[in-house]
Amino acid sequence: MKDIFGKALLDFFNGHYTEDIITSTSISAEDELPLIYLFRTFSEMPPLEKKALKLAKGTVLDVGCGAGSHSLYLQEKGFEVKAIDISKGAVAVAQKRGIINAEVLNILDETNAFDTILLLMNGTGIFQELKQVATYLKHLKTLLKSNGQILIDSSDIKYMYEDDDGGFWMDTNSNYYGELDYFISYKGEKETPMKWLYLDFNTLKLACETVGLNCELIAEGSHFDYLARLS
Ligand SMILES: C[S@@+](CC[C@H](N)C(=O)[O-])C[C@H]1O[C@@H](n2cnc3c(N)ncnc32)[C@H](O)[C@@H]1O
Repeated sequence: MKDIFGKALLDFFNGHYTEDIITSTSISAEDELPLIYLFRTFSEMPPLEKKALKLAKGTVLDVGCGAGSHSLYLQEKGFEVKAIDISKGAVAVAQKRGIINAEVLNILDETNAFDTILLLMNGTGIFQELKQVATYLKHLKTLLKSNGQILIDSSDIKYMYEDDDGGFWMDTNSNYYGELDYFISYKGEKETPMKWLYLDFNTLKLACETVGLNCELIAEGSHFDYLARLS
C-alpha cells in the first residue's frame, strides 16, 4: 500500500490542498471524493452516521478512522475513544486533530475489548470480500465487552446493476454483486487496487447468524444505505 489516502489527508490538513482523490470501481466510472468530506463535523455528517454516534456508549473503538471525524466528535463529548487505521497518514492526521489514542493497526490485530465498535462510511468495505466476512465478524465479536455493540453501515448496491429498462445485468455466475475492485488516485499517483465490499442488510444478517451475533436494522438512509447494530 502506497498510502495515497493518507498523503491526501496530510496535504489537506497541512493546508496543501490542490485537488481531490479520484476513485473508481470495477462497475463505475471515475468520481471525485472531496477531501473536505473526510474532515466533516457532526452537522455535516449523513443521518445514519449521526444516529450511530448518538447510540455510542462506554468505551469506543473507531475502526478505519480515516481523519478521525467520528472519534473527534465522541472524544469531545467525553467518551474514551481509540481510533485505528492501516493508513499511517490517516492516523497522523487523526493525532494532529487531537485524537488522544490513535494507532496504526489492522482491525484483525486489535486485542482490547470495547463497549462500542464503530465501522462507518461503508464499514463492511474493510471485510473486502464475502468469504472473509465471517473471519472479521468472529474477530470483532471477541473485541466486544458484555452488552457491547458494533455499529456498522453499508449499502445494497444492486441498483448499480440496473439498466434503463429496470432489468439487472449482473452475472449470477460471478461473485457476490457487492464485491468491487476499488481504485484510487491522487495527484497523478495510483494506489494499489483494493477489494471493497458492500453488503446488503440480509446478507450481513445471515453472516452474523453463522457467527452467533444478533443483527438489528437500526435505520435506512435515502439511497439503499443502512445502519445496523450487531450484538
Ligand atoms: C472509507 S474510509 C472511512 C474513513 C472514516 N471512517 C470516515 O468515515 O471518514 C475507510 C478507512 O478504513 C481503513 N481500513 C481499511 N482496512 C482496514 C483494516 N483492516 N483495519 C483498519 N483500518 C482499515 C482505510 O485505510 C480507510 O482510512
